[in-house]
Amino acid sequence: MWKRERCNLFCKRHKNVLGVDQCENEIAYLENRYGKPGNLEFACSDFSELDDSSRYDIIYSRFTMHTISSKTRKKVLKWAHRNLNTHGMFCIEVRGQKNEIFGKGEPVEDEKDAFYSLMTIIGVFLNFENLCDQLNSIGFAIDYAEEKERFAPFNNLDETFIRVIACK
Ligand SMILES: C[S@@+](CC[C@H](N)C(=O)[O-])C[C@H]1O[C@@H](n2cnc3c(N)ncnc32)[C@H](O)[C@@H]1O
Repeated sequence: MWKRERCNLFCKRHKNVLGVDQCENEIAYLENRYGKPGNLEFACSDFSELDDSSRYDIIYSRFTMHTISSKTRKKVLKWAHRNLNTHGMFCIEVRGQKNEIFGKGEPVEDEKDAFYSLMTIIGVFLNFENLCDQLNSIGFAIDYAEEKERFAPFNNLDETFIRVIACK
């Protein structure tokens, strides 16, 4: 879900902003709510199947890396590196293994550290150090990386998440 503040922040600072999600209802809602004439567009697509036809200054993945398999994640991280402009930033917020629901729910077969814990959605809980190593090995320089609370407090919940800013 794209909150109004997030849309405003990106749209004020950047010429073209594209929001991608594979959920048709969500994209229809967002287009209706925020997609007025301007520099914000939405696409109903699988972000792991995006092609190499555009270049980006910033790619922001908010709570989506834990919904894909580790194999697909590797593909997406490489895609991000290929398609960012030089000095572009890949910003990731994701559930890691310090997250409060890590280990809860049914394990997912053939996927390490994954559980059907998020209301039947697969949750693949990333290892913080491994994610940073993986980004480094692809060619990113880690500008900022932490795993802690306070990144996404919601009502009375303040869970632990990973936040990474990786630069090309
Ligand atoms: C936990 S929600 C996060 C939504 C939003 N990014 C936010 O920060 O509020 C995960 C979202 O990832 C989307 N998603 C999962 N896998 C996807 C994929 N391969 N391609 C596109 N969207 C995907 C789901 O449809 C869902 O809306």
